[in-house]
Amino acid sequence: MSKLIEEINKRKTFGIVSHPDAGKTTLTEKLLLFGGAIQEAGAVKSNKIKKHATSDFMEIEKQRGISVATSVMAFEYRDKQINILDTPGHKDFAEDTYRTLTAVDSAIVVIDVAKGVEMQTENLVGVCRMRKAPMIVFINKLDREGRDAFDLLDEVEEKLKLKVVPLSWPVGMGATFQGVYNLYEKKLNLFRPHSKQGEDEVTSIEDLNDELLDELVGKKAADELRDDVEILTEVYPDFNPESYQSGEESPVFFGSAVNNFGVKEMLDCFVEIAPSPLSRLTEEREVFPTEDKFTGFVFKIHANMDPKHRDRIAFLRICSGEFKRNTNYYHVQQEKKMKFSNPTAFMASKKEIVDEAYPGDIVGLYDSGNFKIGDTLTEGEILHFKGIPSFSPEQFRYVDNADPMKAKQLAKGLDQLMDEGVAQLFTRQDNGRKIIGTVGALQFEVIQYRLLNEYSAKCSYEPMNLYKACWISWKDDKELDAFLRRRHKDIAKDKDGNYVYLAESGWGLKTVQENHPEIEFHFQSDY
Ligand code: G4P
Repeated sequence: MSKLIEEINKRKTFGIVSHPDAGKTTLTEKLLLFGGAIQEAGAVKSNKIKKHATSDFMEIEKQRGISVATSVMAFEYRDKQINILDTPGHKDFAEDTYRTLTAVDSAIVVIDVAKGVEMQTENLVGVCRMRKAPMIVFINKLDREGRDAFDLLDEVEEKLKLKVVPLSWPVGMGATFQGVYNLYEKKLNLFRPHSKQGEDEVTSIEDLNDELLDELVGKKAADELRDDVEILTEVYPDFNPESYQSGEESPVFFGSAVNNFGVKEMLDCFVEIAPSPLSRLTEEREVFPTEDKFTGFVFKIHANMDPKHRDRIAFLRICSGEFKRNTNYYHVQQEKKMKFSNPTAFMASKKEIVDEAYPGDIVGLYDSGNFKIGDTLTEGEILHFKGIPSFSPEQFRYVDNADPMKAKQLAKGLDQLMDEGVAQLFTRQDNGRKIIGTVGALQFEVIQYRLLNEYSAKCSYEPMNLYKACWISWKDDKELDAFLRRRHKDIAKDKDGNYVYLAESGWGLKTVQENHPEIEFHFQSDY
């Protein structure tokens, strides 16, 4: 086997998605402990933005600065190299998270047993589903009272639109939680709070009618488990790894991350079934990881807010071939050659310069403003990776120049910030006014602050009432012309010159959609 294929087969690149507080940071930490990437709990700085800081964006940026180090965490486990891509939990940075998910090959979805499926989980799973990314579900906090396991699975199926197959099943819950039964391996895993890694008490129980089960968990719980498993076998299909890999079915595990319980089981299953780096689509052709020639795309740009170090890091996902340090590559969008003397890999909490990297790996490239989200590096071929969309923003404000002497600086600043993916800029077609659209309110402050500090430009905002900006597509140019004429007050163009429809309300949008079946409305830019 060639070295490249060996390296590809070793790698598993995934993201953990959850609503804030479901236990993503805790789970990440336990996974890193298993991989020996960290030695003690608490070593992973929480990427979580503390609640009290939501109005203080500088504090948030500081925390985001910390989170650069943990943007990608790599560790080895059972001869596999596992790359976890961290995703900000704060909803105002949801777009960052959406984009990070374009760089993973699979995902683990963490759900709080008491809270069930929450909003942010729904949004993030939606993004993974769109890309048919295989997902494993981990239902967390079983040491606490929570919802009935069957009800939860129904909710996951309904709200997340995932076909689930439970691979483990809880015995009791909260105060009466005794452990989980591994349906796949037919083993009972007894719960011991704060178990050290690998110390879970596991007993093989092939036949649930074995009296050993009653001895271990008591007659009542044993009977309950027998009843549950009988229903499970009737309701859910046998687990099929291929259906999981094609994104059609999701295995479910139950556990308690903080107690390191049920985590190893899930990890063992993950390394066995999770996909190695997958092929990616470009506008030109499909790119396979095993191709000799290197290709990769930028999915995230992190700007340093420290005025003494105003560099940016562009995060590059390697899609094919081998990436080498100090080698000339072709920047497709800028049509120029570039080489990188200190590409960085992120190993748990430390950064290090890498000499080579392989498909599935993420490297950080120090950048002085050459990269945009979605940019491609190759050995010369013209390729544009697909599936790195902008998402329809949810908050809008008019942006105006507050210092007439600095119009140029403002334009440049806005341009670069939009390239970084901080927000999206639209230009109204009726009056030429500029609109900034974001996922969260915080970005407005971030933009204002950065324009002033990095570009010496001042902007002011004017509130506006807008529900959504959606991209449109059409078949017949005449129909488009008619639509643009009729709705000219609600039309804008995005930064790349694409038409966008500005909807003032959900109801209004629905009406326009009904009245204009010849026009298609899209909630993300790569329709
Ligand atoms: P997030 O990254 O998804 O936002 O969640 P995080 O891991 O920070 O966990 C949120 C809270 O839930 C933390 O408590 C964490 O200790 C707790 N937690 C995680 N897993 C479990 C579990 O299995 N059982 C129980 N009972 N709690 C769990 P916190 O009080 O907010 O923070 P901390 O002071 O404990 O760090």
